[in-house]
Amino acid sequence: MIVDELNSQPELPDPLIFALDFDSAAEADKLVDALGDAGGFYKVGMELFAAAGPDYVRSLTGRGKRVFLDMKYYDIGETVRRAVAVAAKSGATFLTVHAVGQVMRAAIEGRGDSPMKLLAVTVLTSLDDNDLHDMGHSCTVSELVAKRVAQARDLGIEGIVASPLEARSIRQIAGPGAVLVTPGVRSRGASQGDQKRVATPADAIRDGASYLVIGRQVTRAADPVAAVAAIRDELSGILCTR
Ligand code: C5P
Repeated sequence: MIVDELNSQPELPDPLIFALDFDSAAEADKLVDALGDAGGFYKVGMELFAAAGPDYVRSLTGRGKRVFLDMKYYDIGETVRRAVAVAAKSGATFLTVHAVGQVMRAAIEGRGDSPMKLLAVTVLTSLDDNDLHDMGHSCTVSELVAKRVAQARDLGIEGIVASPLEARSIRQIAGPGAVLVTPGVRSRGASQGDQKRVATPADAIRDGASYLVIGRQVTRAADPVAAVAAIRDELSGILCTR
């Protein structure tokens, strides 16, 4: 690709989302303050939401940060529709729901004309083929993931949360316009913690991820700003060619 073509491309979005896995707003704020301009997008999951609720989401968006609300909603249609409608008012950019037809249809209805994008969680990465068998499914995890990605795409769900090791195959089914968010990424040499199936940030982006959820590698680092800079360094050169 020649330089002029590169320069004329629209600016690609910052792909790094930092997981605020903390039990209080004060702890989460310590990281947000420490990162400053180095962090523009944060994941608020069940733990922080239970502790600090929608007020904390609004405080982040009020500071100009984007929020990935990782609620993984899964309930009867009416409840999901109403909960998604309320979540949409928080100013979150992404919200997760389980990739079950009834749940996804209700979420789309609840979101209405809000700009918040819905991301589907296909099969939790903690489940294996035996767990699916126990739950009454006769297919494998990869078959169920493929089926649910296709259904999410057909219903108009904008994105998928997936292991980086599945990114390539999911991207093929979801299509080039889908938002693909991958947790479970670790730079080479970084501690894996309890994650078993990880890929490097660069590999995840190469395989089609749009955004990476980064947790402990940054949130528990002695110098979080340096940890973010190292990841951005790893990614430089890849983002402009994808
Ligand atoms: O600290 P670490 O980078 O492992 O954090 C990853 C974040 O992504 C956590 O918030 C975790 O809940 C979330 N996540 C994950 N694996 C999944 C789904 C979500 O690690 N399959």
